[in-house]
Amino acid sequence: LFSPAKPALTIRLCEPRGFCAGVDRAIQIVVLALKKYGAPVYVRHEIVHNRFVVQGLQERGAVFIEELHEIPPEHRERPVVFSAHGVPKSVPADAQARNLFYLDATCPLVSKVHKQAMRHQRLGRHVVLVGHAGHPEVIGTMGQLPDGAVTLIETEADVHGFMPVDPDQLGFVTQTTLSVSDTAGIIARLQERFPAIQAPSAESICYATTNRQEAVKETAAGTDFFLIVGAPNSSNSKRLVEVAERAGAKRALLVQRAAEIPWDEIETIGTLGLSAGASAPQIIVDEIVDAFNARFNVSIDLAVTAIENENFPVLSVLRDMPLVPA
Ligand code: F3S
Repeated sequence: LFSPAKPALTIRLCEPRGFCAGVDRAIQIVVLALKKYGAPVYVRHEIVHNRFVVQGLQERGAVFIEELHEIPPEHRERPVVFSAHGVPKSVPADAQARNLFYLDATCPLVSKVHKQAMRHQRLGRHVVLVGHAGHPEVIGTMGQLPDGAVTLIETEADVHGFMPVDPDQLGFVTQTTLSVSDTAGIIARLQERFPAIQAPSAESICYATTNRQEAVKETAAGTDFFLIVGAPNSSNSKRLVEVAERAGAKRALLVQRAAEIPWDEIETIGTLGLSAGASAPQIIVDEIVDAFNARFNVSIDLAVTAIENENFPVLSVLRDMPLVPA
């Protein structure tokens, strides 16, 4: 409510922001699996990188594990869902060897990158993967091909140190959630050093990453503070913080909940930028707007840079099903 005692604040709210079609689909797969098969449903790795989402699914009966051997023998018949980030080929192979029933929630756009990497290899090319070491998507993409078939490049400096056996037989793909501008720089260096390197036939950085970065880039100049809602292990959310800083926000910060907002730094600001990574639910954006409303007379300036209509259907086994009450 308006109060003359509260300072004025404009919130530039980025659109698009938050959930992408791949995250939405992965969460739906867990929810539908719980409805169809009852609890527990095992989920390998955080289904999406968001604690709030994970806790919500745990409350409904999802059990999160890091590796398949953590499923107790008496639960071998329970479904296990693979996360949106994708998994190395060894994981479904292991699930089959253990006679597990698995549901693969890998985002279709990550699967597309897997196919592009396999295509390069089929055509006799060594695969260069641009991405961040240790991220589950990178582990999953590298694990589509035998050891040694993929080289991970994280920075432009890595390009200079890369010594391929045959520089004329290379193909690249990238992680889906990278910085668009940093990746363009790395690819330009790769193409300078290895002019014969082949691009994937479709862009690897996904529409959601591109659109969220573009919205932040367009909105950041002139903001006193920029908040990105997202988890510290969410690659696309961390990239949004970097984009905001580079595009002119005086300061940018990743927060998971309203409780993490550093109010002492924010007291005197006039314009706030606000967006959310692809794994951050709208309910947390609402919580943050409410927290600002309690302290400021807020006016929302919706900054729309794209309209998204993507919708990925869930696995056919979960459609048209007789439901068990969850
Ligand atoms: Fe898929 Fe991109 Fe989301 S790869 S999971 S649509 S961030």
